[in-house]
Amino acid sequence: MRTVYLNGDYLPETEAKVSIFDRGFVMGDGVYEVTSVLDGKLIDFAGHLARLQRSLDALEMKNPLSESDWLEVHRQLVARNGVTEGMVYLQVTRGNPGDRDFAYPAADVEPTVVLYTQSKPGLADNPAAKTGLRVITVAEQRWARRDIKTVQLLYPSMAKMMAKKAHVDDAWFVEDGFVTEGTSNNAYIVKGNKIITRALSHDLLHGITRAAVLRFARDAQMEVEERNFTVDEAKAADEAFITSASAFVLPVVEIDGVALGTGKPGKVAGRLREIYLDEMRKAAI
Ligand code: PDD
Repeated sequence: MRTVYLNGDYLPETEAKVSIFDRGFVMGDGVYEVTSVLDGKLIDFAGHLARLQRSLDALEMKNPLSESDWLEVHRQLVARNGVTEGMVYLQVTRGNPGDRDFAYPAADVEPTVVLYTQSKPGLADNPAAKTGLRVITVAEQRWARRDIKTVQLLYPSMAKMMAKKAHVDDAWFVEDGFVTEGTSNNAYIVKGNKIITRALSHDLLHGITRAAVLRFARDAQMEVEERNFTVDEAKAADEAFITSASAFVLPVVEIDGVALGTGKPGKVAGRLREIYLDEMRKAAI
């Protein structure tokens, strides 16, 4: 049985209990992070902590732990659960005000802090890196502050189900004809040596993997264009890919039934995946 973390305690997963009045449960009033573990070490931990702070600030929530305490809890859970490849999930909610109320509770209501590991042997050896993903496009119907990593994931879940029903791997959200991002990842297309991805704004999550991958791409003299792209442009691209903390870089080979380029995973995506995994393993803590 997993050992999980709840508000300062390490507990068996079946003993970790949260109130029915918790704002996370009642209002979706909480934020989260997912950090990958490779070789028993944390990938881009500093990036995830920085974004956690950003999400908390946007919602006027205090950060319940110091950076060193966050690191300690992550490392304890990885060690106690013997995780060599997988993820650490972290969630902070506005806590339990003792009743339901739309207004934020008084500042003395303590946030609820939950962390647990998910062991995924073979995470870095994902067969999808060789076969590629097939995606459909769906209407963007999430709220307008997608840059905050909140636990309100109902529409992304609905979109995943639309993808499942269409017998494909995932969905890309489309707003005013332009792709915003994937259900749980950032989206890219490639034209020649040029990597095109939507610029950062409130419209999409500021992916930690995105930041690293774009940095590595520029270091490798690849051209990066941060701008909107349409579904038609994506269908006509040479290749496409997605990034996220748990997928790293994965090629996309088909959009709405249209095969991209050769229909096989592209070279740029493959190279970026390799560079990302190499560099991030080296920098893991
Ligand atoms: N999802 N966009 C969305 C909507 C996401 O949910 C995610 C991450 C990303 C990629 O961000 P990052 O590179 O920081 O993981 C982009 C995580 C992995 C999840 O919900 O499981």
